[in-house]
Amino acid sequence: MTTPPLTLAVLASGRGSNLQALQDAIAAGALGARIVGVFSDKPACGAIAIARAHGLHTVAVSPRDCANRAAHDEALFSEVAAVQPDLIVCAGYMRIIGAASVRRFEGRMINIHPSLLPKYPGLDTHARTIAAGDREHGATVHAVIPELDAGPLLAQVRFAVLPGDDAAALARRLLPREHALLVATAGLFAQRRVQLHADHALLDGRRLSAPLLLDAANHLIGA
Ligand code: GRF
Repeated sequence: MTTPPLTLAVLASGRGSNLQALQDAIAAGALGARIVGVFSDKPACGAIAIARAHGLHTVAVSPRDCANRAAHDEALFSEVAAVQPDLIVCAGYMRIIGAASVRRFEGRMINIHPSLLPKYPGLDTHARTIAAGDREHGATVHAVIPELDAGPLLAQVRFAVLPGDDAAALARRLLPREHALLVATAGLFAQRRVQLHADHALLDGRRLSAPLLLDAANHLIGA
């Protein structure tokens, strides 16, 4: 029996390069998934434009049109629920998601964050890495829980910070590695190998004690 494609809802607020990476991997037959909707708080963002260009279902709800944060969450996430995604991928969704909406999709929501969590949750991760004098930088895919940029860590990509690097250089080097990390991690979900719980994740039924690491060939070591 073949595994049905994993249905994905992608949440994004920005340029949408991670969305594009997922779509490219699907189109290339490298990711057994289907994007069933792209959702945003920014109607004019690049991600929505990319989604439209691919003929994907899009919903953008501006917070300006909602009475408060809870009303915005409710408006956007009822649209997410309507497409019944197997997995929700936050790919540069820049709004904090209220606990009620996170719980509604518990076990079905992941986020990609441009730091080696638990270091540097929140914004300006590249600059903070430079300011701290870290020797390594990277990105993390993790399960979403109500606390910001927390939740069980699933996979990371790491690389060396080089002498002379600034925040812009780190961001530039990280982006293609982020894309590969997101695609590889989504692939584990597509193969139905991951289960998310509030305080841990299971891979093939075994508790992940540390995030999987992406190697240079874009394979997750140990997976
Ligand atoms: C990425 O760096 C992601 O890790 C962060 O926001 C950025 C989104 O980039 N959360 P894009 O919109 O996918 O190009």
